Amino acid sequence: MDYTRGAARWLLGATAHPGGQALTQHLLDRLQPSPGALVADVACGDGATLGVLARRGLLPVGVDLELRAVARARGRGTAVVGDAHHLPLVSGAYDAVVCECSVSTFADPARALSQMARVLRPGGTLAMTDVVLRRDLAPADVIAVVDRLTTARTLADYAALVEQAGLRVLRTEDRSADALALARRLTRRLAAVGARRHASTARACARAVESGALSYGLLVATKPGEGLIR
Ligand SMILES: C[S@@+](CC[C@H](N)C(=O)[O-])C[C@H]1O[C@@H](n2cnc3c(N)ncnc32)[C@H](O)[C@@H]1O
Repeated sequence: MDYTRGAARWLLGATAHPGGQALTQHLLDRLQPSPGALVADVACGDGATLGVLARRGLLPVGVDLELRAVARARGRGTAVVGDAHHLPLVSGAYDAVVCECSVSTFADPARALSQMARVLRPGGTLAMTDVVLRRDLAPADVIAVVDRLTTARTLADYAALVEQAGLRVLRTEDRSADALALARRLTRRLAAVGARRHASTARACARAVESGALSYGLLVATKPGEGLIR
């Protein structure tokens, strides 16, 4: 899916993730990188977060598979075309890695997370947000639509994958309010353009968020070891 297209922008807003830039700011508040810290944004999309990182005095480097996304991201900072499963970044060099709404879209999330762990310096921090799905609670139509776009799982399952990648999970946070706001926005916008079937799917997703079956989550983890204090 090309998240840089005008229609996707109109539907989703300034970022391609629930919570928008407010959630990105919150994630960075949790991360607390020192000024001048080197931060990789894996699956940076069109670079909205690169701009936020740069305005905080950090040194961001974005990576995305989509050439068109990277071309746009370059207007906001350094960005390269690359695959999260084979990150074109130096090992042990990054103070922090950010990955928003993307681990669940990768073919092999475990491999991508081990690449993020590889590029972090000891003591460095990963902050990710992603779609959370309780398969035991979600109705089949919601599972079908979520599965078309992601391999969403529970926050505990994301945490287990992150730990398998060699990182230590520091905190997880439920962000259902952000998921609900986006599902309602999609319902309104799709209904407004007469896309009734899609609007009804978005409404089903909103109901799934309200019932606790579908959500959005934040996770922060660290790479064990001392590393450099920056
Ligand atoms: C939902 S968008 C999120 C974009 C951005 N992180 C944000 O939150 O606005 C998912 C992004 O993942 C990128 N992507 C998908 N598979 C990828 C991969 N294997 N390696 C790098 N980027 C990938 C897509 O091109 C897209 O920009």
